[in-house]
Amino acid sequence: MHPDVAPAGQGPAATRATAKLSALWARDGSLTTRRATYRLGDRVAAGDLADLLALDDDKLLKLPRLPGDNDLMRAEVSVLTLLSDRGDPRHRAYAPRLIETFTHEDRDGVRRTAAVLGRLDGFVPLTGLEHRLDPRDVAWMWRRLLTGIGWAHRAGVVHGAIVPEHVLIHPEAHGLVLVDWCYSVAVGGTVPAIVSRHKSAYPPEVLAKQPATAATDIHMASGLMLRLIKDPPAALRRFAAGCRFDAPRMRPQDAWQLLAEFDELLEDLYGPRRFRAFALPALT
Ligand SMILES: Nc1ncnc2c1ncn2[C@@H]1O[C@H](COP(=O)(O)OP(=O)(O)OP(=O)(O)O)[C@@H](O)[C@H]1O
Ligand SMILES: [Mg+2]
Repeated sequence: MHPDVAPAGQGPAATRATAKLSALWARDGSLTTRRATYRLGDRVAAGDLADLLALDDDKLLKLPRLPGDNDLMRAEVSVLTLLSDRGDPRHRAYAPRLIETFTHEDRDGVRRTAAVLGRLDGFVPLTGLEHRLDPRDVAWMWRRLLTGIGWAHRAGVVHGAIVPEHVLIHPEAHGLVLVDWCYSVAVGGTVPAIVSRHKSAYPPEVLAKQPATAATDIHMASGLMLRLIKDPPAALRRFAAGCRFDAPRMRPQDAWQLLAEFDELLEDLYGPRRFRAFALPALT
């Protein structure tokens, strides 16, 4: 129905129909795409570039605030698709489910690339937990984060923005999911943008627009995990430092191999692995 693609002579009718579609969305709180009609709810999060609105009870609509960021949204959509198609299905839960994507056009004719994502219930971002957690609690997060990035790397993808807001955890179930794949690239590509608030957490190759590899995510993940810990043991500091050399080739190159080394280190520090109940610290 879009006026630009309407058959000759149908332009005015298409314009009216498009205007009506936007109005329908606004009036009854539903959103109809080619595939489904969703119940539109409240905004549940405002990210750096996008707003996330509740859809039905178990989905989110992610919509960039500026159409200039459509390319980043498209990157997220294509990587989530690639992870479904080419990633090992056993680890699919490490990234949110992409349900569909479409172009939304508002009343002013501004087009935005939208994504409908599975909503992660009971998950919270790591934001605000820096320097507050026991290393034995961070241990499971660190293990799962290495598993998640290793899965993406095996599928040929670098996440490229491992910052606290993009790592969601399920405290009771020890679940972890990596969100916001807008900044992700194929291994060897250059990360298209940074989250400027976290500039100091990025490795040099990202800031210098040099190729990103598994070692890029390994650097960011290790820094983030170490920073969560209150008074990290020296052995964990050394482990993280070894993952954060400036030169990417000096760092470990394989997250899953690194996980095996991490497990050995944990065993030396704390003995055989066992479940340790975790609750988020009270907000202060
Ligand atoms: N699938 C999801 N389920 C639940 N919460 C989510 C999900 N995806 C994102 N969130 C929450 O919304 C916040 C913002 O999401 P996200 O980082 O994807 O948006 P963004 O920063 O605007 O994206 P970008 O900057 O890449 O366009 C996240 O920090 C997280 O708390
Ligand atoms: Mg984000």
